Amino acid sequence: MKIIVQNNKKAVKVIFRKKLDREIKLTKNRVLVKLDGSENEDFRLAGGKVMNFLENEKISAISLGKNSKLKYILEGMLLGSYRFTKYKSKPKKFPVTKIFVQSGKGVKSIVQQVQVISEATNFTKDIINSMPQEMNPQGMVKVAKTLAKTHNLKFSTLNQKQLENENMNAFVAVGRSSSNPSALVKLSHKPKSAKKKILLIGKGLTYDSGGLSLKPADAMTTMKSDKSGASAVIGIMKAVSELNLNVEVIGYLGLAENMVGGDSYKPDDILVARNGKTIEVRNTDAEGRLVLADTLAYAQDDEVKFDYIFNIATLTGAAVVAVGEYTTLTMGHNDKLKSKLLKSGEKSGELVTTLPFNRYLEQKISSPVADLSNTGSTRYGSSLTAGLFLSEFIKKKNKSKWLHLDIAGPAYVESAWGYNQFGASGAGVRMVVEFIKSLEK
Ligand code: BES
Ligand code: ZN
Ligand code: ZN
Repeated sequence: MKIIVQNNKKAVKVIFRKKLDREIKLTKNRVLVKLDGSENEDFRLAGGKVMNFLENEKISAISLGKNSKLKYILEGMLLGSYRFTKYKSKPKKFPVTKIFVQSGKGVKSIVQQVQVISEATNFTKDIINSMPQEMNPQGMVKVAKTLAKTHNLKFSTLNQKQLENENMNAFVAVGRSSSNPSALVKLSHKPKSAKKKILLIGKGLTYDSGGLSLKPADAMTTMKSDKSGASAVIGIMKAVSELNLNVEVIGYLGLAENMVGGDSYKPDDILVARNGKTIEVRNTDAEGRLVLADTLAYAQDDEVKFDYIFNIATLTGAAVVAVGEYTTLTMGHNDKLKSKLLKSGEKSGELVTTLPFNRYLEQKISSPVADLSNTGSTRYGSSLTAGLFLSEFIKKKNKSKWLHLDIAGPAYVESAWGYNQFGASGAGVRMVVEFIKSLEK
């Protein structure tokens, strides 16, 4: 989709109305759209509604007049016109290809920001929606490498053997039985005089079958989306480099496939993580926290000084049970930091809320035979016990810099919602880019 800051009289004009007898109306050379409210999100939703409507018309160019909510309308339009057609033998082209925008004060910069962030979100969706056979750990490495080349990001990777040499035994155990070897990718955006520095760690399970604690058939379908955290980190890196944000951003992708084989790790195994802690495996389907444990530990050894460390992961089904499919759950030890993320969420249009840790839940991940168990001893509060497990791999001095984002709900939804299509939504990208933007000031 091209956004062009220029008047165009031939393009079909899109007009937003509070009062309209229908949701949307096409008259000669005009599309009238009903607004359901006056919040920013109402304008995003209206933008998405226009695109869903125009999908079935033969209009290739539309134009927008002056509007104080231009940013939100455009965002809804760019996100709302995303279609995933990679595997269709006869993909339908989206009819609208150009949006003309009237010039005005600040319009160019708004257009650039919206375009970069929406395209990064859609790029993330493409990665997540891609099938596991194609987007296996090596497929993800390739995507990251290509992005690094075109975006002037520093790129490095560790293969499975190197992960072993780095004592990342929990990570390696998860991917060991797959014929697609695990990998860790590091992407860096390093401006010369950065204001702040943030580490982003993404869960990249390119497939989560559950392993020997096999998922039931219905629960396994959609588990190509278990790489959504890592995919979001890739999208965020794309956006921060294109926006040239004056913040140092280092992304780490923990890439593995949780499969079944003669070499599978097992319930009852005890793994020694990179930081020396021992973990009793009670369920091989609680694999994300094992990959993240080592990746978090590695990141803190690799980049010793930083201001923030966030991990993004489709970590628990319980997060979806707790707050529904549309909301990210965040956890951490620093209330101020949590509020700061909630603000970024609100500003970005993503839904996010917090759940509080407590000392009693902390006891639920203890093990009689190891330092920790990879599952909570009860199913109650299991998003929190998963978060508390990760916390065990955050160094004391970094605890207040850390946030865990569980995107299990919004990362992938099997029906369209708002301006999102069936499938991946790119959850995390807009919110975290907004957070990073706030660090520039
Ligand atoms: N990848 C899943 C979590 C998930 C579930 C993401 C549904 C998106 C939608 C994760 O690895 C998992 O299987 N977690 C288990 C943990 C349990 C075994 C302690 C879960 O949530 O059931
Ligand atoms: Zn799992
Ligand atoms: Zn998983």
